[in-house]
Amino acid sequence: MRHHCRVPSAAASFVQEVGQRIFVVACVARQPQHYCLVFFHAREVSSFRRMDTTPAFPTLRVVSHPLVQHKLSLLRDRATPTKIFKELVDEIATLIAYEATSELTLEPAPVETPLERTEGKRVSGKKLTLVPILRAGLGMVEGVARLVPAARVGHIGLYRDHDTLEPVDYYFKVPSDASERDFFLLDPMLATGGSAAAAVASLKRAGATRIRFLCLVAAPEGVRRLAQAHPDVIVYCAALDRELNDQGYILPGLGDAGDRLFGTR
Ligand code: PRP
Ligand code: URA
Repeated sequence: MRHHCRVPSAAASFVQEVGQRIFVVACVARQPQHYCLVFFHAREVSSFRRMDTTPAFPTLRVVSHPLVQHKLSLLRDRATPTKIFKELVDEIATLIAYEATSELTLEPAPVETPLERTEGKRVSGKKLTLVPILRAGLGMVEGVARLVPAARVGHIGLYRDHDTLEPVDYYFKVPSDASERDFFLLDPMLATGGSAAAAVASLKRAGATRIRFLCLVAAPEGVRRLAQAHPDVIVYCAALDRELNDQGYILPGLGDAGDRLFGTR
C-alpha cells in the first residue's frame, strides 16, 4: 500500500483518533476481493511486504529495509576504507539472511521452561549450509552465520576470466549429504551471472536441490542468466542496479568487491 495508495478515507479518521505515534494493524476492504492487512504508522501506510519483487524478474527479492539501503550507500562510496567496507558487507549479509531465512520450515519441538513443558518450534531438516564463492563471498559468511551459528560451511572457488568474463573454477567442497540440505550460496556481486550459474550447477551436481543465492548488488543481466539456467533459485539482494559496463562491472555498483574487501588490486 505504501507504494500505490493513500490512507483509505475510512481509515484516515481512525488513524487521527489513535494519534501519531501508534502502530495500528487494521483490516481494510475496498472491495471484497481486496481484503488486506495493513500497518498504519502516523499518516504513513505500509504493507507487510519487506522485500520488493517485480514481474520482470520473478526469481528476485530486493531487501528494501531502510538499514540495508543506508548501509549499501556507504558500501558504494569509493571513499569507504577496507575496514569499514568489510564491516558493512558483514552487516548487510546478516540483514539479507534474516529475510532469506524467513521461509525455512519449522517443526514442533517440545521445551521445558523453568515453569512447565510447552510446545516450541525448531527449524526442520539438516543444518543449513553456507557456501561462499571465493573470494568475495567469504566476506558474507560471518554475517550470515551470526543468525545460524550451527550452519555448515562449504566453499566454491571461482574467478572470472578478465577477457572472456566466463568463470574458471578451482575449488569445490561441500558436505557429502548435499541432497538433504538447504544451501545459501553467498557472493556480493551478481554481474553477468556466469559465476553464480556455474556455482549452482556444481552444487546441483553434488546433489543439492534447495539453493538460495544471497548477494548485495545484482545486475539485470545476471539475474536473467541465473533465472534462465536455474529458475528454481531465488536471489536475495540489496539492490538491482542499472547495467553492466564493457568490462562486466556493475553500474553504479560498488567496484571490485574482492579487491575492496581484501585490499588487493
Ligand atoms: C567477482 C564476484 C563474483 C563474480 C561476479 O569475483 O565476487 O564471484 O565476480 O561476476 P559474474 O556474475 O560476471 O560472474 P571475481 O571473479 O572478481 O573473483 P574474486 O572474488 O576472487 O575477486
Ligand atoms: N565483480 C565485482 O566484484 N564487481 C562487479 O561490479 C562485477 C563483478
